[in-house]
Amino acid sequence: MSRGPLLFKDIDTPGLRSIDTYRKGGGYETLATFGQTSADQVIEVVKASGLRGRGGAGFPTGLKWSFVPKASPKARYIVCNADESEPGTFKDRELMEKNPHLLLEGMILAGYAIGSSLGYIYLRGEFEYIQQIIDKAIAEARAAGLLGENVAGSGYRFDLHTHLGAGAYICGEETALLSSLEGYRGQPRLKPPFPAVEGLYASPTVVNNVETLMNVPYILRHGAHHFRWDDPLFHDRLSARIIVVRDCEDQCRAIIQRDELLLRGQTKRTLSNDVPAMVRNNRGSQNFRGPRRRGIDQNGDGILPNNLFGLG
Ligand SMILES: Cc1cc2nc3c(=O)[nH]c(=O)nc-3n(C[C@H](O)[C@H](O)[C@H](O)COP(=O)(O)O)c2cc1C
Repeated sequence: MSRGPLLFKDIDTPGLRSIDTYRKGGGYETLATFGQTSADQVIEVVKASGLRGRGGAGFPTGLKWSFVPKASPKARYIVCNADESEPGTFKDRELMEKNPHLLLEGMILAGYAIGSSLGYIYLRGEFEYIQQIIDKAIAEARAAGLLGENVAGSGYRFDLHTHLGAGAYICGEETALLSSLEGYRGQPRLKPPFPAVEGLYASPTVVNNVETLMNVPYILRHGAHHFRWDDPLFHDRLSARIIVVRDCEDQCRAIIQRDELLLRGQTKRTLSNDVPAMVRNNRGSQNFRGPRRRGIDQNGDGILPNNLFGLG
């Protein structure tokens, strides 16, 4: 287990943008399993990994994919949200700039899982230089037979296109993004219907953040269990942190302390001795009140009840 950064670990490898360097590090190997792994199996692995969307809402990725109706006669789309307009955020930009093939591999896997044969990468208007990097990567992947009529010789058809927005913050919201992608003004749509049922061109669509999609190849390569424990953000715990920060500093400090111990490779048993009793015993501080009380880490394992997520 790596217990360190996953996506940024090899980010400064010289030449990583090129398909040859990417493949030398095991890139695109997951596509060779298409023959043996069904779309449903891919969804199950991603569900089991606990991966949650990195676009803000923290919605479970595998679950989102499973909402796409299997029987729909309409085309299905996978859309990557590369708008990243939140002031001060730059993770997606850095990842795409340096490791574009990882995004492509993640999108191919996501497309396969939901039965899509076409995907779009929606970039904010200012990311024109990144569009050029990604377009080059797409061309390389097509030339290598990893995109197109017969992905990696599996018989699966899938292609990708980039699209540049006009630089409006609201276009990061998934339904506004879809309107913008269709050529309309980027204004949010009412939900339901949710994009999984009626998204791009009123067809089933999954919208996922860049970082979310980039985690998928790792999950398929190493297995759901590894991701659960290797994920440096400790996805569940990160969400726990965000919720707790809003309400109670003490609990937040305790959870961060435990995460740090975990990252240093301590065992769970050691941790349970180190985590302040307040959290272990489910006793919130005096200031911790109101409906968010549900946010207390009830089992002392850093994982909050699922119904607490959906912050975005
Ligand atoms: C106003 C607003 C702006 C948003 N901006 C972004 C953004 O820039 N990038 C992003 O990935 N998600 C953004 N989101 C969240 C998306 O609507 C959507 O939940 C996300 O792309 C889903 O991807 P995920 O499941 O992988 O997290 C924004 C949401 C709102 C309400």
